[in-house]
Amino acid sequence: MTLMIGIPREIAPGEKRVATVPDVVEKLIKLGFKVAVESGAGDAANFSDDTYRAAGAEIIDGAAKLWASSDIVFKVCVPTTEEVGLMREGGTLIDFIWPAQNPELMQQLAAKKATVLAIDALPRQLSRAQKMDALTSQAGVAGYRAVIEAANAFGRFFNGQITAAGKVPPAKVFIAGAGVAGLAAIGTAAGLGAIVRANDTRAEVADQVKSLGGEFVKVEYEEEGSGGGGYAKVMSEGFQQAQREMYAKQAREVDIIITTALIPGKPAPKLITAEMVQSMKPGSVIVDMAAERGGNCELTEPGQAVVKHGVTIVGYTDLTSRLAKQSSTLYATNLFRLTEELCKTKDGIINVNMDDDAIRGLTVIKEGNITWPPPAPKLPAAPAKPAAAKVAAPATKGHGHGGGGAPASGAKTAIMFGVAAALFWFIGASAPAAFLGHLTVFALACFIGYMVVWNVTPALHTPLMSVTNAISSIIAIGALVQIAPPLSLLGGFNRPDSLIRWLALAGIALTAVNMFGGFAVTQRMLAMFRK
Ligand code: NAI
Repeated sequence: MTLMIGIPREIAPGEKRVATVPDVVEKLIKLGFKVAVESGAGDAANFSDDTYRAAGAEIIDGAAKLWASSDIVFKVCVPTTEEVGLMREGGTLIDFIWPAQNPELMQQLAAKKATVLAIDALPRQLSRAQKMDALTSQAGVAGYRAVIEAANAFGRFFNGQITAAGKVPPAKVFIAGAGVAGLAAIGTAAGLGAIVRANDTRAEVADQVKSLGGEFVKVEYEEEGSGGGGYAKVMSEGFQQAQREMYAKQAREVDIIITTALIPGKPAPKLITAEMVQSMKPGSVIVDMAAERGGNCELTEPGQAVVKHGVTIVGYTDLTSRLAKQSSTLYATNLFRLTEELCKTKDGIINVNMDDDAIRGLTVIKEGNITWPPPAPKLPAAPAKPAAAKVAAPATKGHGHGGGGAPASGAKTAIMFGVAAALFWFIGASAPAAFLGHLTVFALACFIGYMVVWNVTPALHTPLMSVTNAISSIIAIGALVQIAPPLSLLGGFNRPDSLIRWLALAGIALTAVNMFGGFAVTQRMLAMFRK
């Protein structure tokens, strides 16, 4: 018997999103499920009942009937007590739940013998989980929308222009916190032509900021900001003081500040003080994305846009909902990818496999038993890149505690050089003369290759890889040397060494695929970066 997936209308005030969209309904039906949508569920996101019907969904009037007929319910907002009351006993719910913040809701759902997959509990560090990561897809939309809200409240262009009526300087945008939302905001603001700067306590995001067209502004204080799992931690008082000084300077210079800084399980850090707001130019804009968690700016009023000291401070907490069609489509796709994982047999029946790391993490209640929190993941969180330590700023006067390791590393380098020189001498003394020449060329080539790759923007590493792939096809030269006709053309491919020639010919043919393919792929990839 195939299961029915139900999509109720979201009832939270102001919520415009819907948990699935007509395109995804078709895909769910192909997986073997039946789909029911509450009448009007997609209206606020511009998906009419008719479009759902055309995609194969059944339209059901009223929440009570929809919940009663659904084996599995897909939702966006945390369910209310009334909604849990409507749920079928033993049913499955896939939704945002936030189990740590909602212990009562967890009890109510457990009492319903429900199986609950909390999309917010996805182990995001698993690369396999990325396609189901709704937190990321929704934060990306919010980051984009934050820039649009800023542009709406700002009285000037983002890009610099030279017009007959005069020269317009580009807007300067500062982004505090370069997580998913912050990076989306950087990309969007840079795309609109603004000068974008960003700061984050996790030094490892500096490259990502640069690759999206922003400039990473460091805090002149040495402290590792990673709190594990790719999230931040609360920083020391010394760091916070140094960060406040830097933010105060940025506030005086920039036109727009977008704040996204968040530490899991903690109130949002207060980064923008009332004095900083006061120091901004009149007409400037702050969009505080952390408004819901207390705000990064002291003057933010959650859910409101207010003007204080001549600066518009936008504290909307519904940025994703303000782009409902886009966020619903991405959310629906995240849930579809999850459904694919749950229904590998494509027969409209789900298997909540607790041996699967991703599914185990998501499942907070299984058939009425609370299974949250999950055991620690087998995989360690993405390790902090060693480069992060290097990127950390050198200590400033009065705050420093760095520098202790220098003499030890100097001795190490000297030993390494000594060993390398001895090895080189040994090779030179014992190997044939030609070998030493080849080795020198090889070592220099490695060095030049390394320097070239190191200086390429990380975003371009993939096209770079394919072009180096193409260049590595220089192997063709070796094959050509082998195939080259001897001084006398007599004999051709029938001479005794013809086997080598045939092999060389095959070598050239295969390398040609690598060469031309490599260049073609590089062109295609570079085209994606060109506007
Ligand atoms: P995230 O946890 O991935 O990113 C937060 C970033 O802030 C991290 O990179 C972290 O290192 C950084 N950070 C933490 N403390 C900092 C400090 N003191 N100084 C500088 N950087 C610091 O979170 P994500 O997914 O990017 O979301 C960002 C924010 O946007 C969150 O506050 C989230 O609640 C909010 N959000 C708001 C929405 C709305 O409608 N207003 C919708 C979606 C997300």
